[in-house]
Amino acid sequence: MTQTQFTPRVFSGIKPSGGLTLGNYLGAIKRFVGMQGQMECVYCVVDLHAITVWQDPRELANMTREVAAGYLAAGLDPTQSILFNQSQVSAHAELGWIFNCVARVGWMNRMTQFKDKAGANAEKQSLGLYAYPSLMAADILLYHATHVPVGDDQKQHVELTRDIAAKFNHDFGVDFFPLTTPVIEGPAMRIMNLRDGTKKMSKSGDSDMERINMTDDADKIAKKFKKAKTDPEPLPDTLDGLKDRPEARNLIDIYAALNDATAEATIAEYAGAGWGKFKPALADLAVAKLAPIADEMARLMADPAEIDRILGAGSEKAREIADPILRQTYDIVGMLRS
Ligand code: TYM
Repeated sequence: MTQTQFTPRVFSGIKPSGGLTLGNYLGAIKRFVGMQGQMECVYCVVDLHAITVWQDPRELANMTREVAAGYLAAGLDPTQSILFNQSQVSAHAELGWIFNCVARVGWMNRMTQFKDKAGANAEKQSLGLYAYPSLMAADILLYHATHVPVGDDQKQHVELTRDIAAKFNHDFGVDFFPLTTPVIEGPAMRIMNLRDGTKKMSKSGDSDMERINMTDDADKIAKKFKKAKTDPEPLPDTLDGLKDRPEARNLIDIYAALNDATAEATIAEYAGAGWGKFKPALADLAVAKLAPIADEMARLMADPAEIDRILGAGSEKAREIADPILRQTYDIVGMLRS
């Protein structure tokens, strides 16, 4: 069956589980802001996803606000994009259930992120962590989103979303859900840990020195880049020369992404430079770009009621799109409505 033309719409989300990192900023938020105005955008703080691992109920609401503050401080405009938190739109959980009944256990067993997170302890993880990708598919398909900007680590989940959409359409003989395109492009698809260039930069690493947090001040940012692991070689003149140098490659990618440049142009600019030259330049660039965002986040967080108001208004707009799509889904599946 050829697909209907769906109106272009962007959806993406971030979990409020721990602070935002430079990986979240460059791999997601900065790119979300860049897509604003190009098509309709729906951006979510996915609090239902956060509780797949334990979250302190006294902190969760504030972490939700902090992710919203990160979006806003980075330039997301709630009059142009829809910005809301997932649990205020109950259709996410409802469609997630339907998709639990569409997705196959074998598909979930292939999800590498679950295997990485669960490790040898899979039996002790929540059922929610295992089923998480079908809720993510619901997040996306509830808006008939056609484009999903994410970092590289989410690629498999967006591919699974396509599989769920295709199976739903096939099983029910409809052309109802779009086959969403993951948008994974630019130099920041996978920002790595500053102490080990083979590991992803994440919110939950052992040491704070491994990552840049979006709330770090100028001194911390400069110190972390100064202490970032590198190797003794100067920078080569092409990216090929960085093949087996993951830490060096990561710092070039970070510089490029912060500077709105390509990694190719960045390596050409710094060809032959030693770390004594490159690291201070990177730290200065990062401080210039990130410190104003951190300041704005702090300003926004001082007025939590205003953030709550923005998320509430966004949730209303989200429900206007989501509720009719959920109702049609129920009709397709055959749920009785009195
Ligand atoms: P989460 O909260 O782990 O990460 C949010 C976004 O940040 C990106 N990201 C990175 N990008 C580059 N380098 C890194 N080191 C890095 N770390 C994180 C992620 O790829 C992601 O785009 N399952 C999702 C949240 C989600 C979602 C959705 C996303 C739920 N529903 C629907 C898109 C559409 C997650 O856990 O992201």
